[in-house]
Amino acid sequence: MSDVASCPVHQINPMAPENLIQPWVMNKRLRDEAPVFLDPTSGIYFISRYEDVVAMASDAKTFSSVMPGGNTRGVNSDDPEITAIMDQGYPNVPTMLTQDPPLQRRYRKFVDGAFSPRNLKKLEPYIEQVSNDLIDQFADAGHCEFLEAFGIPLPLTVIGSQIGTPMEDLPHLRRWTEAFIGNLSQQLDREGLKEAARGMVEFQHYFVKRMNERRDNPTDDILSMVVNAKLDDEKPLDDAECLSMLSQIMVAGNETTAASLTEGIWLLIENPDQYELVRNDPSPERISALVEEILRYSSPSSNMFRRTTRDVTLHGVTIPENSICFARFASANQDERQFEDAQRFDITRGNLREHVAFGKGIHHCLGAALARREMNGAFSVIFKRLENFRLADDAHPPQFSPNALLHGLTGLNVAFDVIR
Ligand code: HEM
Repeated sequence: MSDVASCPVHQINPMAPENLIQPWVMNKRLRDEAPVFLDPTSGIYFISRYEDVVAMASDAKTFSSVMPGGNTRGVNSDDPEITAIMDQGYPNVPTMLTQDPPLQRRYRKFVDGAFSPRNLKKLEPYIEQVSNDLIDQFADAGHCEFLEAFGIPLPLTVIGSQIGTPMEDLPHLRRWTEAFIGNLSQQLDREGLKEAARGMVEFQHYFVKRMNERRDNPTDDILSMVVNAKLDDEKPLDDAECLSMLSQIMVAGNETTAASLTEGIWLLIENPDQYELVRNDPSPERISALVEEILRYSSPSSNMFRRTTRDVTLHGVTIPENSICFARFASANQDERQFEDAQRFDITRGNLREHVAFGKGIHHCLGAALARREMNGAFSVIFKRLENFRLADDAHPPQFSPNALLHGLTGLNVAFDVIR
């Protein structure tokens, strides 16, 4: 293993677990010395500067979101045992996140209504109630593992209710989300991939049943929206298309928000001066600035795939047509060319809303307004009820998990005082 701070830049292995866990030094080196970096092992071009990431996300014609083999099983392996498991499910059809316009726009239109300002406004009291219910369960103990006790269950409960999943099935929804994330992580061994494949197929069969129920008896949830969606005289979406959309909403909506909520608490602990600013002024404006800076700093959706549709030359490097690239949102958000003293967590920075944690251009996050509402709602309840957050276990500092697409803590043991 070479030292990422001092080795020649071409020797950096950006997919090595240690660099996925702690990407900051590597990201700075790539931004400064190799803004377009071909990783010889994965064959992926890493594009790391803010300006370039914004440009590529804004040019869907050149940087397509449809991957080669996008219309297959959606599992990260050619292993016959794993593909046999996936063959028991439905094909992986590219829809919103994995599709290009005009189809991408068409799919997105079907579910846009669920994320409209009116709908989200209605959700505010529910987010507050779920946040309070979760805190009730651990407040008296004076400590908790925040990811497990709050970070995961809040978005899981909210998105579960929006999709139309009964509360008792939320543990399944969580398990299936983990299966999809595991498959994306590029870090699973064969057994892990088999387990993930089983989870993804289970998800599909469960939801096909629920979809059939909604075809007969529609309600006002996302499931009903998706199965009954059609434009003019088109035929409705088929099962595979519906499953693709539901899995994207479930996966994109759960882990990302959980990661930002949890890293947010950690950032407050690590930056007592910033914590003090919100404690002294927990106004909606201050909390909103806190949320945006947490999003910039944590950027849980750290890298996203694109495929070049033609040769592209950038910073003297020619990326051939049909190459796979990473739009590196997390690295862009720490680019000193865009954010002064970018490694500093600063809720008063003037341009904190310029972050690209939700992406940019036509794929800009469908759930951005929902995630913002969840985070603002959660932090305002937290600041009303709990104070003096600190690490409960100094001996074991929090760790990030190695994942090529999603960056988040594996857990966060905290202690706190209850505001009486
Ligand atoms: C902190 C929370 C979140 C973060 C950081 C985040 C981040 C992102 C990013 C970076 C993209 C752009 C991907 C690309 O350009 O390829 C994206 C797209 C997307 N997000 Fe989110 N997201 C979050 C929450 C949510 C939620 C709550 C939902 C749904 C309920 C959601 C659903 C989606 C979907 C469906 C897309 C694809 C949109 C399209 O391609 O048209 N996300 N998200």
